[in-house]
Amino acid sequence: MTDTMTVWRQRCYGSADAVRPETVPVPAPRASEVLLQTDAVALNSGDIHLMRGEPGLVRVALGLRGPRIRGRGMDVAGTVLAVGDGVTEFAVGDAVVGSGRETLADRVVVPAKRLTRLPETVAPAIAATLPIAGNTAVQTLDACRVGSGARVLIAGAGGGVGTFLVQLAADRGAEVWATCGERARPVLERLGAARTFDYRALELSDLPRGRFDAVVDIAGEPPLSVLRDLLAPGGTAALVGGDGHPFFGPFGRILRSAVTRGRFRPITAVTRTETTAQLVELAASGRLTPHLERTFPLSQAGAALAYVEAGRTVGKVVVVRDGLRPQG
Ligand SMILES: NC(=O)c1ccc[n+]([C@@H]2O[C@H](COP(=O)([O-])OP(=O)(O)OC[C@H]3O[C@@H](n4cnc5c(N)ncnc54)[C@H](OP(=O)(O)O)[C@@H]3O)[C@@H](O)[C@H]2O)c1
Repeated sequence: MTDTMTVWRQRCYGSADAVRPETVPVPAPRASEVLLQTDAVALNSGDIHLMRGEPGLVRVALGLRGPRIRGRGMDVAGTVLAVGDGVTEFAVGDAVVGSGRETLADRVVVPAKRLTRLPETVAPAIAATLPIAGNTAVQTLDACRVGSGARVLIAGAGGGVGTFLVQLAADRGAEVWATCGERARPVLERLGAARTFDYRALELSDLPRGRFDAVVDIAGEPPLSVLRDLLAPGGTAALVGGDGHPFFGPFGRILRSAVTRGRFRPITAVTRTETTAQLVELAASGRLTPHLERTFPLSQAGAALAYVEAGRTVGKVVVVRDGLRPQG
């Protein structure tokens, strides 16, 4: 094994070209940690927010001039190369998935408690999509108590989180309607949406009032009163995404939701290893089939970040180890 590795890092906030490959020593795993060969890294809009330092308020916590954690990438699927003291649940050669820091690298150290084992039937590129987007979708559906027979509307469903929401809600037996870009409509219909609408050709207020047990807003644009009016009595509107104000981000909208009549649930998802393990089981059983729009080799991670930064992804974009076939 070589003693250096490549990691994609940035010194200052900016667009994707601020993130460059650096050659650094391979770290050794400390107690309770695991060293992975990175097989696949799914990108999330969270990576883009960190890269750009947006909204501005997050810089107070993440670093005023540039991000304190310089490397991008959070989701990861990989192969165990070494384990630190006290790690008994994984051994060298195990395939795993989870979330960490600076995962856009050919090696990465991750706390063992943040990893779950992968069966051979789930390819690394598929597995890597599960932690952040999958956990966000599960926690949103739980917050809205979505179960069999629920009528669910997902606004802005074409991206990573939205495609998981559609498929997981349909898997729970819900009737799912979704708004998205035109390119995403056949994808969402394949994933289980009963009806899809091009968001550029429809006002949400044109949909039937009082119809939905859950309205999930990923786009972050519709007025709160429009979301509320779509809800059936006792229904819940989940606020998941949207860029919001350049400095305050979605916080103003979240505060307004607290004083607006109606049942609003702002979502701040946490990636839980147990939930990721359940998502791995669903993927292994064929009930969950994440949509990969594009894969890029790690040597082109900058191009992958630029692609996601453009905000037009249908499903997920995944960076894979150079030479690895995307699906296996
Ligand atoms: N609350 C949480 O815990 C949490 C966790 C994860 C993500 N998020 C947020 O969730 C949002 C989605 O994240 P993601 O990673 O899934 O994003 P993504 O994959 O980058 O989403 C891209 C998709 O969004 C669609 N889109 C863009 N603007 C739209 C609009 N106004 N109406 C409808 N669709 C629109 C695009 O369709 P077109 O190309 O056709 O425009 C594209 O298909 C982001 O705002 C992110 O910050 C929140």
